[in-house]
Amino acid sequence: MVAIALAAFLAIALVSSRSVAAGPGAPSPAAIPYLPSISDLMIETIQPRHERLWRAEQEGNWDFAAYELRALRGSFDRLGRSHPTDQQTSLPQMIASVMEQPFRELNNAIQAKDGTAFAKTYAGLTDACNSCHQALNRGVVEIRLPSRASPSDPNANDVPHN
Ligand code: HEC
Repeated sequence: MVAIALAAFLAIALVSSRSVAAGPGAPSPAAIPYLPSISDLMIETIQPRHERLWRAEQEGNWDFAAYELRALRGSFDRLGRSHPTDQQTSLPQMIASVMEQPFRELNNAIQAKDGTAFAKTYAGLTDACNSCHQALNRGVVEIRLPSRASPSDPNANDVPHN
């Protein structure tokens, strides 16, 4: 059934794309610019990097931690530029006010390869995620500390998992 329905759909799609292409001087359908929503960016870029940063440190891979921290900052920068406001609040300002300190402290911990300082400042980073969610009425999105490494993550080959 599914195969038949799919075949019928493909046949229709083929006919309609032919008829568009066949029209004299018909413009090809324009691609619609896609702006990922705040939520898209959170789950595509920010949440995975928050977690990968933690895994990097768990493995003692400080270079990768530094890399992920830079990538996380970049993700927030692009979030603020693509979505300047949410609920009449300036996102770039909100990002700066909650994230600047944890970013600076994490950078120091990574440069010093200090696992204890990292754990403390990583918890601060996670609190900062949640403070923005609460401030923008998304308190339901509660970010927690990661608890184990996933084998699918780059550089996680040597990590025991359960
Ligand atoms: C400057 C504010 C701000 C900061 C800082 C922030 N978020 Fe968000 N986040 C939001 C907003 C706003 C939403 C809700 C978006 C929506 O509902 O469209 C959200 C939603 C989310 C979601 C839910 C997305 C979904 O569709 O399920 C996740 C996951 C998330 N954030 C992760 C994080 C993590 C991890 C951090 C910290 C590293 C973080 N966020 C920091 C503003 C922020």
